[in-house]
Amino acid sequence: MKEEIVMKDLQFARHRRLRNSANMRALVRETHLHKEDLIYPIFFVEGENKRNAVQSMPGVYQVSLDLVNDEMQELVDLGIKSVLVFGVPAEKDEVGSQAYHDHGIVQKGIRQIKENFPELVVIADTCLCQYTDHGHCGIIEEGKVLNDPTLDLLARTAVSQARAGADVIAPSNMMDGFVAAIRHGLDEAGFEHIPVMSYAVKYASAFYGPFRDAAHSSPQFGDRKTYQMDPANRLEAMREAASDIEEGADFLIVKPALSYLDIMRDMKNNFNLPVVAYNVSGEYSMIKAAAQNGWINEKDIVLEKLTSMKRAGADLIITYHAKDVARWLTDK
Ligand code: PBG
Repeated sequence: MKEEIVMKDLQFARHRRLRNSANMRALVRETHLHKEDLIYPIFFVEGENKRNAVQSMPGVYQVSLDLVNDEMQELVDLGIKSVLVFGVPAEKDEVGSQAYHDHGIVQKGIRQIKENFPELVVIADTCLCQYTDHGHCGIIEEGKVLNDPTLDLLARTAVSQARAGADVIAPSNMMDGFVAAIRHGLDEAGFEHIPVMSYAVKYASAFYGPFRDAAHSSPQFGDRKTYQMDPANRLEAMREAASDIEEGADFLIVKPALSYLDIMRDMKNNFNLPVVAYNVSGEYSMIKAAAQNGWINEKDIVLEKLTSMKRAGADLIITYHAKDVARWLTDK
């Protein structure tokens, strides 16, 4: 017969007491995901009756403006309060002039949304890469992306988006001084009440690949490493955020999200602006692909990963999963 070991005087904590039942776990849960946290990105395309599926992003479409009202109604019905709008213009040129045209695709789309859904918070992505024929986020000279001459075009883009009715300007192009230039441009044009949601910390990431399919915005030569950040750097993120705040940013975006949770926490601990996680295209596509193969439980994985972003310090999350998440949160 085996002798039993007597555990009489063992001292240890009983953490499992607080995990005893679903209701007990709900009582002690520290992080919650709400519909109000979600921002849904949407791509506008010229033409009629278009709902072009983005191959690398199952469930994501480029939609023409005649179908946008239906799309917005669906979001409102689901309880989503905010959208981030991107344009896929019919024509591109060297200086991205469709980005700051009052009748550009994004300006038309914003006007339409605000006419029909005035309460939706419309955030305009302010960048040039979808609008330039070379696919870079700024003006090019001798193969280089010029910083200062680009600032004027960004300010013009932001002002035209605000004039169309955008509630928030979200500059994503990573030129130095872009927040200062946009803030100045908005103020001069009488839009001092419009906040800037800066892509303060934006890494040169391979996770943007599928987005570039959706927005037709791949650089035609080189890469974005002279303006987007090196994924190896953390202190640089602090410098980027600090200068954006000094220049007048109202929100700080960290992008991508999943591989940069430490940076989100740094933002939360060191600054006092709302932190926004951009759960980017590649992060979405990987989950979709695995789910379509039956390899993972999509719902559980998505909710876990978005919760991890909030736990890391994000207040808001820009995500292509927003509609699904809103549905799951309703069904809960
Ligand atoms: C525009 C822009 C990009 C994304 C958002 N705004 C692409 C890029 O910088 O190459 C990526 C979003 C995503 O991957 O979901 N500059």
